[in-house]
Amino acid sequence: MVSFKNPLIIALDVDTIAQAENLADKLGPYAGGFKVGMQLYNSVGPEAVRGLREKNVPVFVDLKLHDIPNTVAGAARVLTRHGASILNVHAAGGAGMMSAAATASRDEAARAGLKPPLVVAVTVLTSISQDVFNKEIGITGPIRDRVVTWALLAREAGLDGVVASPLEITPIREACGEDFVVITPGVRPAGAAQDDQKRTMTPREAVRLGATYLVVGRPVTAAPDPVKALRAILEEIDS
Ligand code: C5P
Repeated sequence: MVSFKNPLIIALDVDTIAQAENLADKLGPYAGGFKVGMQLYNSVGPEAVRGLREKNVPVFVDLKLHDIPNTVAGAARVLTRHGASILNVHAAGGAGMMSAAATASRDEAARAGLKPPLVVAVTVLTSISQDVFNKEIGITGPIRDRVVTWALLAREAGLDGVVASPLEITPIREACGEDFVVITPGVRPAGAAQDDQKRTMTPREAVRLGATYLVVGRPVTAAPDPVKALRAILEEIDS
């Protein structure tokens, strides 16, 4: 795995390689790494990951795998081969599925002579509010309790960490310890648009609370000057 030079991972939620590479070339000197999610991956396929890896930047392949263990293990194996630095599965798939993904990824990395990617579990999406969680998804209790339960399950299943909202960093750290990776999307600089995110926090606050990596998309990629927006976030984190 190539190391992340800072905690900021930029989500390249675009349709084409040209758009992704244009952003990667501009933002590469400042970003910690890039994220290829379902929009770009489903549009261009593995080339999206390989193209970025050729630029020697770490890539978080955010496909949120959720299927039977054998299928998820197969996908984790393939994504490891493509050079993912981080890949993820849904914690709601259960311990067996999470463990199958982690084992397959590590075995494939060893077989191919690659550094194994971090395998992390998505807990509760940052776009889900407490009300939607209880009334539409039908899980009772506070989101925070479910996130901690799933984080502990992920750790027991051998995963490296979780994706969660910045609002849950503290209870995850308390339950899972300092070495557990916590990746937080739903990060919004003060005064920025919330878009469809509901459980948000500023980048500075998320780092202060102990996030390992922050995922930021539109506040940077949709800004009139993405480099300026990214540098402002880094300065805010350092201030
Ligand atoms: O544009 P924005 O900063 O909202 O992008 C956040 C990114 O993080 C998106 O690519 C989204 O898919 C991803 N993500 C998320 N919530 C999660 C997991 C991933 O918003 N729980």
